[in-house]
Amino acid sequence: MTTPIHVLPPEVADAIAAGEVIERPASVVKELVENAIDAEARRISIDVRGAGRTSIRVSDDGEGIPGDELPLAFVRHATSKVTVLGDLDAITSLGFRGEALASIAAVSEVECSSAGARIHIRAGEVIDHGAGPLLTGLTVEVRDLFANVPARLKFLKSDATEVAAIKDVVIAFALLHPHVRFQLTIDGRAAVGSTGDGDRRRAFASVHGAAVGEEMLEIVGMPLVTGMVSQPRLSRGSRDGMVLAVNGRPISSRPLAYALEDCYQGRLERGRHPVAAIDIGIDPSLVDVNVHPAKREVRFREESAVFGALQRAVRAALGASEPIHYRPPQPSTTVAAARGHESQLVVHTATALPLEEGGSSARVAGVAMLRPIGQVGPGYLVAEGPQGLVLVDQHAAHERVLYNRLLERLRTGLGVSQPLLIPQAVDVEPSLIAAAADHRADLATLGLEYEEFGPRSLRITAVPVEMPAGRATAAVQETLAALSETRGDGAMHKAAAALACHSAVRFGDVLDAAEQRKLLADLEVAEESVTCPHGRPTRLIVEWQELTRHFRRNY
Ligand SMILES: Nc1ncnc2c1ncn2[C@@H]1O[C@H](COP(=O)(O)OP(=O)(O)O)[C@@H](O)[C@H]1O
Ligand SMILES: [Mg+2]
Repeated sequence: MTTPIHVLPPEVADAIAAGEVIERPASVVKELVENAIDAEARRISIDVRGAGRTSIRVSDDGEGIPGDELPLAFVRHATSKVTVLGDLDAITSLGFRGEALASIAAVSEVECSSAGARIHIRAGEVIDHGAGPLLTGLTVEVRDLFANVPARLKFLKSDATEVAAIKDVVIAFALLHPHVRFQLTIDGRAAVGSTGDGDRRRAFASVHGAAVGEEMLEIVGMPLVTGMVSQPRLSRGSRDGMVLAVNGRPISSRPLAYALEDCYQGRLERGRHPVAAIDIGIDPSLVDVNVHPAKREVRFREESAVFGALQRAVRAALGASEPIHYRPPQPSTTVAAARGHESQLVVHTATALPLEEGGSSARVAGVAMLRPIGQVGPGYLVAEGPQGLVLVDQHAAHERVLYNRLLERLRTGLGVSQPLLIPQAVDVEPSLIAAAADHRADLATLGLEYEEFGPRSLRITAVPVEMPAGRATAAVQETLAALSETRGDGAMHKAAAALACHSAVRFGDVLDAAEQRKLLADLEVAEESVTCPHGRPTRLIVEWQELTRHFRRNY
């Protein structure tokens, strides 16, 4: 039945090799954009038709290829970026394998012009090579992608999905390379455009909309971490807005994504994700980029150092987060235009914020004069601040204050507890008893002390000083559940959040004037006070200018 072993004819071998590099139209866009960036282009235009199946045209104003070298560029393993084996130890360009052009040409019809020459290739065969237009840079047009590999064609997703993947590629490069001007048109319509003026905030505004641009916080760190992350009041329901890169190369890395999201713990609600573009600049000899056929993954020599640098930079930037400012609904057309096409994007504000004034000192100064006015509704405090009227969710605010206090106790190891006059028996699952035993010392630092009392029961002997004694049972059960669900450093934080939640005043409790004043004063000086530990907002500011506008006092 089987044929004897034989070496595959080149067109079959090439199509197999191409399949590794070129999976879908977005891969073509990615490889051609990488080549343009490697050629130091300042402008890159991408024109896509028929979701990339009909044609993909990429023009750049980079160094180009000398006319007589054009055929060579399309030969597999022909590259100008790597020469000797040792070069692979420290790759500084985006490309290095000399495979992309050959792979693309193997599965499509390609026309490429540069420096007065032009080459025309179909399914890997050179059809024509001769004079071409005298342009700066290089233009590649890829037509009928996968026409000769029907199996691949069958696996393409819907046009909308393929176009979205192409846009994601261009958006990632536009955010990571703000000095390059990107223009993507889809069937003649502008889809993504950046100015290329080097301003990353402007790049964010151009690709994600003005409202997003305003909400981004600049990050800088050592060793070199650059980029922007969204402040917590802007978030998304998916991770699609997160771009991570190493030396300007977008990568997909679950652990790095988790490291980023970890910085938002206690700032974003469950299921919400930040918008970000982070580029880790690292000595190329400390990172191996040659581990994935499409160069999507990398390996770090010192992974934990890289993660640490990223988290330090992001956490420092998040210190400048701002509370939510009330915005009355605006005429829908302008809002839709400003917010772009991202229906799943949540932007709680559309104001231009004085971001230069950010920073924690300005923030503390900004709220340091809260004047309590009273309690309204079931659990809101009203206060006057320098920016305007401040509404506070008393439970969320108190949770934040207590949570910070508990974390501080964990940090310093100095706990305070309140012994219970009558130890309280609490029924818990055996697995939770084990979780408690693993963290016994930390729990004691938080003020929670217990004795084991049979296989399914604990006797609580002390609770945090802030906790009303009657709440111990529910608090212990939830705290231990949080501990058993989470691994690593996050576990004690989750436990602290559960204790804070059960110790805080409730939404609906009546607070007297002194209690209100104390809570507002504590909130003023609390770090990360924009949200409660679960990521819900603690306050809303109705700015004076908003009132002025509403009451038409601006004339
Ligand atoms: N847009 C471009 N501008 C200038 N030179 C290019 C461009 N695209 C490709 N080249 C040249 O063609 C070579 C082969 O490209 P490619 O197949 O993508 O491999 P690689 O990028 O890995 O070197 C590159 O090394 C480069 O010299
Ligand atoms: Mg390349």
